Amino acid sequence: MPSPTLSLQTTTLWEYPSQHYGKGEQGSSDYRGATPSWVIWNLLQRYTQPGDLVVDPMCGSGTTLDVAKDMGRLGIGFDLQPHHPKVKEADARDLPMEDEVADFVFVDPPYGTNLKYSGKPECIGELDARKDEYFEAMGKVFEELWRVMKPGSHGGVFVCDVWKRKEFVPIGAQFIYLLVQAFKVVDHITVVRKSKSLEQGNYHKAAEETNYFLRGFSHLLLFQKEEVDADSPEKKGGGSPRGSRRQGRGRGRG
Ligand SMILES: C[S@@+](CC[C@H](N)C(=O)[O-])C[C@H]1O[C@@H](n2cnc3c(N)ncnc32)[C@H](O)[C@@H]1O
Repeated sequence: MPSPTLSLQTTTLWEYPSQHYGKGEQGSSDYRGATPSWVIWNLLQRYTQPGDLVVDPMCGSGTTLDVAKDMGRLGIGFDLQPHHPKVKEADARDLPMEDEVADFVFVDPPYGTNLKYSGKPECIGELDARKDEYFEAMGKVFEELWRVMKPGSHGGVFVCDVWKRKEFVPIGAQFIYLLVQAFKVVDHITVVRKSKSLEQGNYHKAAEETNYFLRGFSHLLLFQKEEVDADSPEKKGGGSPRGSRRQGRGRGRG
């Protein structure tokens, strides 16, 4: 498939034409679950400037780092099991980083147990998205992102819903609920998935016979860490997500 022309998307419906852009590849095509680099390129083009620091706490094969480098941004990536020489080993809930240093964050987490990654007990891909523990773990990842982000900076999370054992798990909607506890959610983009498996007839036959829908899109949720007025009671209240938007928001799964 030819490489896509890199162009800034202007609607909330993105249909990425291929996994990589240009002649080479970003991240690794051998890595199952890599993010389409064209999605990250669009986010960095819109929300960052050359020289900005971009952080990905679940960086896998390093797609975010490769795109950041192509665009003259600085990239720092972590993963429990790095698959790129520049990705460092760390848990996304406890990043070895100072507070408020990132100009942009991007994360493409495991969608429950859809793929096998490291198998380590800390791997969030070992947690079933039908259970609260998955959302509790992802809530901690979002809190850690909030900590390392500069006030006013943006982030993106790329995730797909799950249909598993006759049960629909609306991960995208649950993530919006988690994100609004700490951030301002600034947009919701639908990214159409060009998955080879979706082209296979047997998948469609099973979807018809068992009466379910194959997942045709991913959610791209965009959020912002709001700047807090130095004199506001929120700032005096501790400088954590719990001290700001979390208050008075009720309780969800996470
Ligand atoms: C969908 S993949 C990310 C793919 C990546 N964006 C790329 O393009 O290669 C999800 C990643 O989350 C990592 N992961 C799972 N739990 C983690 C945790 N607690 N801390 C850090 N990384 C974790 C997995 O090892 C896996 O590499």
